[in-house]
Amino acid sequence: MIEIGKVTNSTPGNIQILLSSVDVFERNKQHMRVSRYVVIADGNETKILASIQNVSAVQNERTETINYTITATPIGSYIENEEEIEFRQGGVNLPSPTEPVYLPDDNLINRIFSCSDNFSFEIGKLSNNNNIRYFVDGNKFFGKHIAVVGSTGSGKSCAVASILQRVMHINNGKNDTRDEKKNSHIIIFDIHSEYRSAFSLDDEQNFTVNVLDVEKLCLPYWLMNSQELEALFIESNEMNSHNQISQFKKAVILSKEKHNPELKHINYDTPVYFNIWEVYRYIKNKNREILNNIDGQPQKPRQEDGTLIDNADTAYLEKEISFAGSSTAKADKTKNGPYNGDFERFITRLEIKLSDKRLKFITDPKKDSGESYKTVDFDSILMQFLGYIDKANVTIIDLSAIPFEVLSIVISLLSRVIFDFAFHYSKIMHEQQLVNDIPFMLVCEEAHNYIPKGGGAEYNASKHSIERIAKEGRKYGLNLMVVSQRPSEVSETIFSQCNNFVVLKLTNVNDQSCIRNLLPDNNSALVDVLPTLAAGRCFFVGVFVSSPPKRKKKKEKTGDSELGVRKTPLGILHSTLRTVIILNEMSRVLNLLLEAALCKNTTSTPVTIQNSY
Ligand SMILES: Nc1ncnc2c1ncn2[C@@H]1O[C@H](COP(=O)(O)OP(=O)(O)OP(=O)(O)O)[C@@H](O)[C@H]1O
Ligand SMILES: [Mg+2]
Repeated sequence: MIEIGKVTNSTPGNIQILLSSVDVFERNKQHMRVSRYVVIADGNETKILASIQNVSAVQNERTETINYTITATPIGSYIENEEEIEFRQGGVNLPSPTEPVYLPDDNLINRIFSCSDNFSFEIGKLSNNNNIRYFVDGNKFFGKHIAVVGSTGSGKSCAVASILQRVMHINNGKNDTRDEKKNSHIIIFDIHSEYRSAFSLDDEQNFTVNVLDVEKLCLPYWLMNSQELEALFIESNEMNSHNQISQFKKAVILSKEKHNPELKHINYDTPVYFNIWEVYRYIKNKNREILNNIDGQPQKPRQEDGTLIDNADTAYLEKEISFAGSSTAKADKTKNGPYNGDFERFITRLEIKLSDKRLKFITDPKKDSGESYKTVDFDSILMQFLGYIDKANVTIIDLSAIPFEVLSIVISLLSRVIFDFAFHYSKIMHEQQLVNDIPFMLVCEEAHNYIPKGGGAEYNASKHSIERIAKEGRKYGLNLMVVSQRPSEVSETIFSQCNNFVVLKLTNVNDQSCIRNLLPDNNSALVDVLPTLAAGRCFFVGVFVSSPPKRKKKKEKTGDSELGVRKTPLGILHSTLRTVIILNEMSRVLNLLLEAALCKNTTSTPVTIQNSY
């Protein structure tokens, strides 16, 4: 290391350095550019690593000489011994004035950022020196929720694809771990259909990506919970929407009871089959309902032929009734049903939605045999997103062709299903004193489109589902990667749960201040540099870039955390999959999931489903 000057002033964010001479500057100026590093002694064995923010030349008017000063921001400290360097990000003891300052050589920087026991996940190269590979603690990176933010075109999607390829050991179109199977799973909500090519490898690479586009995806409407069904079929700002909801709810429950007679305690949210066309007929009949109003006779629905309907609930699901005409004559007096004429717009909307070919994957998905999906097919529906079909570790849900108005609903349903799987699988494993060994990572591309900060009722369902993952998912091995070009417009609840940040070029002032507020204190100065970053260049901020505290290295702990979830998802990514056991466990989870949802209101429920279907 070359000594270049002395500290003249130090504050928590900035250290001022006066260079020894003009000659020192001239000889080393190519290493003293902004964002390069300097090393500062702190008075004892520890050294401070600082990044250059500013270099200035000030003329001394009296002596007419030029003094060069550097302003540097401390990023961490290290202790060097013969075998290794222990680097710790942040929390430095500020150096006193007159402490010497050095220029580190590439070898030292390489040792600081190089691969070590924990820091073994290569995430990229240092932007100020392309020869230096940058390693982070993969377990910490993937063990917390991650936010990837940057203006449009800053390189977010490329960065995400590159990180995920590294996780999957895909390197230049080759699968480097061809003979291993991995038991993690990455699910990408791909809004612009851009990820398929990143994970499509030749057959001999033994890597199958599971792409579910609108042609392949099947998400039967009956899996939806009340919030999602109402978001799909009911216009919340219509005057009589409360009546629409009450009658729609009644019809849904009646149809569920009709098709699942063996089940008790069915409610609006139970994920069992019902027939949406029956619900449509029910609403249509309610809209035309004419009741008998002859004195002394029951006020039941009256048909055209004069007969009264005893059990209107059943009859209304079955067929469209030809009601009697209105009459005020005493002998055949009638009156309108309570909802007569109320549901014209609701019926038109149901007809439009049910005949919309783009929504067929929701309103009328069919099995290969041509039959509709029923309650017994519950597990095969869930299996399509959960992977382990054809060894897929990456599931891309291509949402590009999905109409915008149902995007939120589809994402809500998918996220809920994935959360519930993770929840129940964890529970089963914990009952057996085992840890959850199937980590999931959910990548939410263009998150501002479906989990906005404000937004109307149409976003309630997706916000609710993803916020639950943000708050509780980690306990069950489910992590989020939230990607957005407008961080200031994404739900605060979700962003505030992210501990790890990949921050690319960010030009919008609101977005910059949103990120400034989210970043740990000592990183807020980074925000000033964000508008100037080139495409693909980014800052990594979070626990995963700091080194372990200074202590003797222990053997890495791979057991339970206090919550019983394995702490090291990345470690698991690389472990060998016990395919058979996991498939068995999976079918057990799926059965349990259904059972739990069905028995939701009984005390004998083995596990309770949170935020039921
Ligand atoms: N590491 C990189 N080095 C050089 N160029 C890059 C890098 N990453 C991305 N780019 C360039 O930036 C372009 C935009 O990248 P990308 O689509 O990932 O941006 P984005 O932030 O996801 O944009 P959007 O918000 O519109 O989705 C790419 O087409 C590529 O040319
Ligand atoms: Mg993108």
